[in-house]
Amino acid sequence: MSNTTLNIVSICGSLRKASWNRILMEALPKLAPESMSITEAPPFRDFPLYDADLQNASGFPKEVKALADAIRAANGVIIVTPEYNFSIPGALKNAIDWVSRIENQPFAGKPVALQSAAPGPVGGARMQYDLRRSMVFLDALTLNKPEIFIGYCADRLDAETRTISDDQTPDSSRNNSRLSLISFRRMDRDDTGLKKDSLATALRHNEERYKSRIGVETAKKKDLPPLLT
Ligand SMILES: Cc1cc2nc3c(=O)[nH]c(=O)nc-3n(C[C@H](O)[C@H](O)[C@H](O)COP(=O)(O)O)c2cc1C
Repeated sequence: MSNTTLNIVSICGSLRKASWNRILMEALPKLAPESMSITEAPPFRDFPLYDADLQNASGFPKEVKALADAIRAANGVIIVTPEYNFSIPGALKNAIDWVSRIENQPFAGKPVALQSAAPGPVGGARMQYDLRRSMVFLDALTLNKPEIFIGYCADRLDAETRTISDDQTPDSSRNNSRLSLISFRRMDRDDTGLKKDSLATALRHNEERYKSRIGVETAKKKDLPPLLT
């Protein structure tokens, strides 16, 4: 494991001021291992609805570029978001759709961790599998375990102190959330000891090879994903 500080950006999928997920996201820096800093990514609140015509006519809005740049510059991304109708909240999905179309797509090869909270029992699990699926298409390296679904969050998060109040047992939300950050820290290197940076480079290299084999124009026209080996 490398000792250098990893700069992680966090994204909250809820726009609500009193969001439980925002409380959870804001509690994370205090739980992070010493060699990890977590800061919030630029907001997506003002993104227009994704429209390819708009993109073609006026390019990417500056807010989209700011988020994409922040993701690209970070060592990893933590997305903390509610579940809406068993899936990804529309505003967050719209933000992901925008940044996914930008050149040098910022999620490619990027370690990503997911956490969610909900007042109900399931804690956002169904949404996480949809979000994980989008991350597969974007070639993100999503942390597998531990999975963090904070159900009955009103009993586990403290809206006054903006902390995780469920902290008394080994399996508490606080411990699990911290464990997730420690596991995320370890993703800096994969099982073979390769730096993730090398993996990202390998992915880009693959993409270049793929494009040169089938022709860049054909790849663009068909909107083909990079070849993974
Ligand atoms: C449009 C909408 C759909 C929702 N769907 C779900 C759902 O599928 N599963 C769930 O656990 N909670 C659902 N909820 C309840 C949210 O979990 C709850 O409002 C939560 O507080 C939202 O997260 P936030 O506090 O971070 O804003 C839904 C809420 C809204 C507004």
